Formats: sequence, C-alpha cells, structure tokens
Amino acid sequence: MSNQEIGKILVVGGGRMGSAIVEGWLKQGVLPSSIYLIDQNIQILETFKEKGLHTFSSVENVPENTLFDVFLLALKPQIIVQHVADFNRLISASTCLISVAAGVMVNTLKQMLPNAKHVVRVMPNTPAMISKGVMVGYSDQQAEFSSLIESLFATLGHFFWVSNEDQMHAVTAVSGSGPAYLFYFAQCFVESAKALGLEENLAQELALKTVIGSAHLIEQSDDDVETLRKNVTSPNGTTQAGLEALMRDSILKNRVEECCQHAAKRSVELS
Ligand SMILES: NC(=O)c1ccc[n+]([C@@H]2O[C@H](COP(=O)([O-])OP(=O)(O)OC[C@H]3O[C@@H](n4cnc5c(N)ncnc54)[C@H](OP(=O)(O)O)[C@@H]3O)[C@@H](O)[C@H]2O)c1
Repeated sequence: MSNQEIGKILVVGGGRMGSAIVEGWLKQGVLPSSIYLIDQNIQILETFKEKGLHTFSSVENVPENTLFDVFLLALKPQIIVQHVADFNRLISASTCLISVAAGVMVNTLKQMLPNAKHVVRVMPNTPAMISKGVMVGYSDQQAEFSSLIESLFATLGHFFWVSNEDQMHAVTAVSGSGPAYLFYFAQCFVESAKALGLEENLAQELALKTVIGSAHLIEQSDDDVETLRKNVTSPNGTTQAGLEALMRDSILKNRVEECCQHAAKRSVELS
C-alpha cells in the first residue's frame, strides 16, 4: 500500500489498539510523516514522535485547515461520546472515518461528526499487536471502501466483513473480547498445574506452551476442533478421565455461552 493511495491519516487515541494499528501501518511502509496522532498521554506522543509521526496533545493544536483522507478513531466509547465532536473540523466530505470503538453505531458517529460522509466500523482484537489479529468490518459503503480498509489492516491479521451492523455485537463478543476469555482459561490451567504440585515456572511453561501448541495445531490441521479432541482421547485413558470432569453437565459449555451473551448484551448497551 503506497502513501499516494491513502494520503494523510489522522489517528485519535494511540493506546493499546490505536498504537497496534499504527505500528502495523509503519511495518507496512506507510510514511510516518503522513500520520498525525492526537493523544493526551505524553509518553505515547513521545514514542511516536521519535518514529517520525506528527503528534498533538489535543485537537486545538492541529493546524487549521488540515484535512485527512483517513481518520482512525481509537478512543474508549465513553470518551467518544464526550469529546468526538471536537474532531469534526478535521473531516472533509472525502475522509474515510474508521472507528474501532466497541458498540458505537455508524449512525451515532455520523450524528456526532456531521462532516463524516464515509464511516467504517472495524472490530479488531489485541493479537493484532503481533499481526495475528482478527478484524471484522461493517460499512453501508463496503463496496466502495473494502480494498482501502483491507489494505490498511493487511499486516495486522485476518480481515472479515459483516453485512448487517447488528452482527457487530456478536463480533465484539466473540473476536473482540475473545482473547481475554482465552487468557483466563490459560490462567486457570496454570493454577491447576500448580495445584497438582508442579513448581510455578514449570506449571506456567507446561500449561501455556500446551495452549500455544494446540492453537497452532488447530491452525495447521485439516480436522475440526471436535475431531482433534476425539483423536487425542483414548477410551478409558487419562484424557478421557479429565474431559469427563471438564464436560460434566455442560457447565463449561453453558458458561462460555453465557460469557458471549453477556459481552454482546454490553455491546448493545453501549450502542
Ligand atoms: N484493547 C482491545 O483489545 C480492543 C479491542 C477491540 C476494540 N477496541 C476499541 O479500541 C478503542 C480504544 O481502546 P484501547 O484499549 O486502545 O484504549 P486505551 O489503551 O485506553 O487508549 C486510548 C488512548 O486515548 C487517550 N485519550 C483518552 N481521552 C482522550 C482525549 N480526549 N483526547 C486524546 N486522547 C485521549 C488515552 O489516554 P489516557 O490513557 O491518558 O486516558 C489513551 O492513550 C476502544 O473504543 C475499544 O472499544 C479495543
């Protein structure tokens, strides 16, 4: 992707998600001098200033009449509601506004930023920081913007589209919030290894490397996850004994379902 194709980029919010996306762009060869970053965190500004970005601690410091081709909005949803109107003057009729905020609908963004004529929502997740992210986009102008958006997110992982904005609640609950569920499972697994008498370091190594290895196997195998599980479960063996406890009364299955439903409900509440 060349700078000529994307032009000038404004990023508002250089925290966990904003910085992961910017780092991806820099890796991809986007010129740092084409990126303008607004964040109130001085440390974040210093880090990106050293990399050659234009950095600003507030919207007032961005020179008058600076307009952007792409505007990445990566603030927390609550902050967006309070402050986003301040950014309207930096948007032109041709700016593509990309919001990664959970639960903030396209129409809400258009109401808060009346200059924005092209709005795309993208729900990324944190593995994007290591180019293993899952990103899902929604826009009522998908056909017009799909190649720009896909190329902007190409180095960050896998990109998918949904055609109905309501599905973004499920997306947020599954891939957006999903890494935290899996980190929690991994944490429980480490604790269980320790409870069996393994020393802390070894418990961490065994449990976490098993999670990582199994994820790679899912990626590289042609079998689905149910078949992979059945393949390693010998009748009356140790794995079967463990799984019988794990799957008893479908408690885990029900909890995972409940977990996703609660996250989706929260996304609806935020919208
Ligand atoms: N992290 C994830 O896994 C993830 C996944 C999917 C989507 N998202 C979405 O990404 C968005 C950002 O999340 P995040 O985790 O990256 O948040 P974050 O780490 O808190 O980053 C937000 C950044 O914006 C700064 N900021 C706050 N108010 C500001 C203002 N008025 N003007 C300029 N900068 C301001 C914050 O500074 P301070 O730290 O000083 O407040 C912080 O540096 C959210 O809408 C979230 O829904 C996040």
